[in-house]
Amino acid sequence: MAKRADFVWMDGKIVPWDQATVHVSADTVLRGGNVFEGMRAYWNEDERELYIFKNAEHLRRLRQSAKIMRMSFPYTDAEFTEAFIQLIRRNKFTDSVHFRPVVYFDTGEPGGYLPEEIRTGAFVLAYSRPHAKSVYSGVHTCISTWRRNSDTAMPPRIKAAANYHNSRLAHVEARVNGFHTPILLNDRGKISESSGSCIMLVRDGVVITPPVTADILESITRVTLINLFRAELGVDVVERDVDRTEAYISDEAFFCGSGQEVTPILTVDHYPLGDGKVGPLTKKIQDLYFEITKGKVAKYRHWLTPVYQHVGAK
Ligand SMILES: Cc1ncc(COP(=O)(O)O)c(C=O)c1O
Repeated sequence: MAKRADFVWMDGKIVPWDQATVHVSADTVLRGGNVFEGMRAYWNEDERELYIFKNAEHLRRLRQSAKIMRMSFPYTDAEFTEAFIQLIRRNKFTDSVHFRPVVYFDTGEPGGYLPEEIRTGAFVLAYSRPHAKSVYSGVHTCISTWRRNSDTAMPPRIKAAANYHNSRLAHVEARVNGFHTPILLNDRGKISESSGSCIMLVRDGVVITPPVTADILESITRVTLINLFRAELGVDVVERDVDRTEAYISDEAFFCGSGQEVTPILTVDHYPLGDGKVGPLTKKIQDLYFEITKGKVAKYRHWLTPVYQHVGAK
C-alpha cells in the first residue's frame, strides 16, 4: 500500500508508517478477523481546527461490532479518543482526515477461533481525505447482481472487514460495467445499501430509506441525516422496505456515509432521477451536513471533538 501518512497508532504507540505491521499468520490476515470504523475529522479553516465528527457514536458502534464477534476490547473510549487526537496531531494534518480504528484478532493457537485463544490488538490508520468530486457532480449507479450478505449469515450490522468481500464483488462489478458504485438488494429482494454507504430516496417531498432490518450497516450518517431532515428542514422521513423499481421513479436519491458523505445519485440502471441532475433536497441536506461537520452551526457543536485544542493533549 502506498504510504498515506507518516505515522500509525498501533497497540498503544505511535509508530512510523513502515513499522505498523502484523504477522502473516495473524487471524486478521488469514480470516479477515477484525472490526473497524471509518471516521472523519473535518477541517475548519477559520479556526484552523480539525473536528472529529460523532466520535462517541463511532466508538459505540465499534464496541457493538466487537461484542457480536465476542471479541475483547483492549482500550477504553478515552484511550481511543486520545489515540485519534495524538495520531492526527503527529501527522500534522491540516485538511479533512479519514481515519480507521481497527480492533483485530492477531496470532493465537493454530486453528484457534475462540477470542481467548487469540491475542486482540488495535491500530488506527489516518489519511488526508478532502471531499471527493462526486459529492458535487453526483454518481451513476446500478442494481447489483450480487445480494447483500444477510443478518442470518454475515451480519452487515457488524462493521467487520470480512463483510467487505461482498461489497468488493458488487463494487467491482459496477465499475466494470461503467457505473460508479452499486446498490445491493438483500436476500428478500428489497434495497439494502451500497458497497460502502446507505441510500435515501426522495418521492413527493418525503425521504424514504431502508430500515435497520434491511441488512444494512447501522449508519451514523443515516441517523444524523434523518434527524436533520426532521428537525431542520421539516421534511418527513420514512424508514421502510424499498423496492428496486421505486429507485427508478424517485425524484432524487443520494448515498450517505462517513466516507461518501452525501453523494447525489443521478441515474439508477440508466434511468435518470428527476431531471438527471443533483436534486434540490439532496443539495440542501448536503450543505447543512457540511456546515455542521465543519463546526459552523453552534447548535451541533456537541457532535464534534476538537483535535488541536483538546484539553490534556500535549
Ligand atoms: C456498508 C456500509 N454501509 C453504510 C455505511 C455508512 O455508515 P456511516 O454513516 O456510519 O459511515 C458504510 C460506511 O461507513 C458502509 O461501509
